[in-house]
Amino acid sequence: MPSPLPPDWTDRLALDRAHLWHPFTQMKVHEADPPVPVIGGEGCDLLLANGERVLDGISSWWTCLHGHGHPRLVSALERQAAKLDHVMFAGFTHEPALELVTRLRPKLPANLTRAFFSDNGSTAVEVALKMAFQAQLQRGENGRARFGALRGGYHGDTLGAVGVGELENFMTGLFSPLLLACERLDVPEDPRRELQPDLSGWPERLEASRQQIRAFFTEHGARLAAFIAEPLIQCAGGMRMWPPECLQELRAQCDAHGVYLILDEVATGFGRTGTFLACEQAGVAPDLLCLSKGLTGGTLPLSMTWATEAIYSHFWGEPTSGRAFLHGHSYTANPTACAVACASLALFDEEPVLAQAQALNAAMTEAFTTLASHPAIRQARVLGTIGACRLVDPKTGRAHDPEARFGWRLHRRALDQGLLARPIGDCLYLLPPLSTPPARIAEAAETLLALLNG
Ligand SMILES: Cc1ncc(COP(=O)(O)O)c(C=O)c1O
Repeated sequence: MPSPLPPDWTDRLALDRAHLWHPFTQMKVHEADPPVPVIGGEGCDLLLANGERVLDGISSWWTCLHGHGHPRLVSALERQAAKLDHVMFAGFTHEPALELVTRLRPKLPANLTRAFFSDNGSTAVEVALKMAFQAQLQRGENGRARFGALRGGYHGDTLGAVGVGELENFMTGLFSPLLLACERLDVPEDPRRELQPDLSGWPERLEASRQQIRAFFTEHGARLAAFIAEPLIQCAGGMRMWPPECLQELRAQCDAHGVYLILDEVATGFGRTGTFLACEQAGVAPDLLCLSKGLTGGTLPLSMTWATEAIYSHFWGEPTSGRAFLHGHSYTANPTACAVACASLALFDEEPVLAQAQALNAAMTEAFTTLASHPAIRQARVLGTIGACRLVDPKTGRAHDPEARFGWRLHRRALDQGLLARPIGDCLYLLPPLSTPPARIAEAAETLLALLNG
C-alpha cells in the first residue's frame, strides 16, 4: 500500500484536478490515479509528498544527468540569475553563451561550428528543419520541399517536429493535414544489442537494409531538403536500437544526393549511450545537430541546433538580401540556462562522468540479463546506460491487451516500491541519471521482478 499523503495535499490535488492540464495525458486517468506530488529531488532520487523516496529511473523524461539538485548546477543557477537573469539575444551577447559554445564545441564533430539556441527539443528540431530548407533554397536548390525520416522516430510535438515523427505511435495522425511532406524509411532493430540475440541471417538482413536505404534515396533523394534521425536508438518510439551501419549508409546517401543529415541527439546526447554523442559510435558527423534535455544536466530548459560552416554560409549576405535566418524565441540563449549548461559540461571535464556511464552500462547489462529470464519479458537489450525490454503476457507470450493498461499499472505499483519506471506502451526501460550508483540498478531489477511475479 502507498503511504498516505499529508492532509494539505487533498486541497492541492483538488486544485490540480480543477485547473491543470498535464502533458501527454488523458486527464480522465487522473480521476482514479491522481498525479503524484513530488516535493524534492536529491541525487538520483525524487522525494514524494507521502514521505517516500523513489529512484528516478527515467531521469525525469531523460533530462537529469548528474542527479537532482547537484550543488554545482544549483550554485551556477543562483549566481547567474543574480548577475544577469535574461536578455534578448538578437543584437546582444553574453558570457554564459560564449562560455557554453567554448566548452561544448570541442566535444562535438569538428565540422559543426555554428550554434543556434532555442528552448527545448522540439524547437531545436524546428530550427534544424527550417535551416535545412532555407539553406537548400539559398544554394539554388528549389525543388527540395520534402524531408526524409525513419519510421518509429519521435522528434517533438510542434507541427514541424510532428511531421517528421512517426505519427501512428503518438496518436498524432489527426494532425496530418497540417504537416510537412515527409518520406519515411524503415531500418531494422539491431539484434546485436539484445542480451539473448538471434543472429541468424543478420548479415543478410543488414545488407538488405543498406540496399533499401540506397533505393530510398534513388527514389526520393532529389526532392529532400534533409533526412532526420535519432542516431542508434529511437527512444520515444520504444527504445528501438538500430544499427550504426545504417547510419553510415544514411550519411553516404545524403552526401551522394545533396541532402542534409540532421541528427536529433536530444535524447541520446550527453553520455546516455556511453559516448558523449551517439553518432560517435558510427563515426558519422551530421550537417545539423539537435541537443537539449541533458544540455543543462536536466535543470533548466535550453536547446541548441549546431550547423556546419557550409550551411551557415548560405545565410550570409547584405542586410536587405533576405538571406538571414528569421527565427527566434523570447528566451533564446537564456543566460541562466547557459550558465547551468556550462556547470554541467564542467562536470564532464572534471569528474569521471563518462566512466560512470560505463559502470552503469555494466550494471544495466546485468540487470536486464536477470530480467530477461522472466517469462513476462522479451527482447532485453542495452545501449550505454539505457536498458529496455518488451512486456508480454506470460500466459500467451503476446502483448498485453492495451485496455488492461498493464504498463501504467506497473508504473504506479513500482512507485509504491521506490522506483519510477514508466513504460512506453509495452516497452519497459530504465534510463537513470548517469550518477546513479550501480547497486541501485540491481535493486530496481529486483523490484521489477517482484512486481512481475506479484
Ligand atoms: C529525440 C527527441 N527529439 C525531440 C524531443 C522533443 O523534446 P522536447 O520534449 O524538449 O520538446 C524528444 C523528447 O522526448 C526526443 O526524444
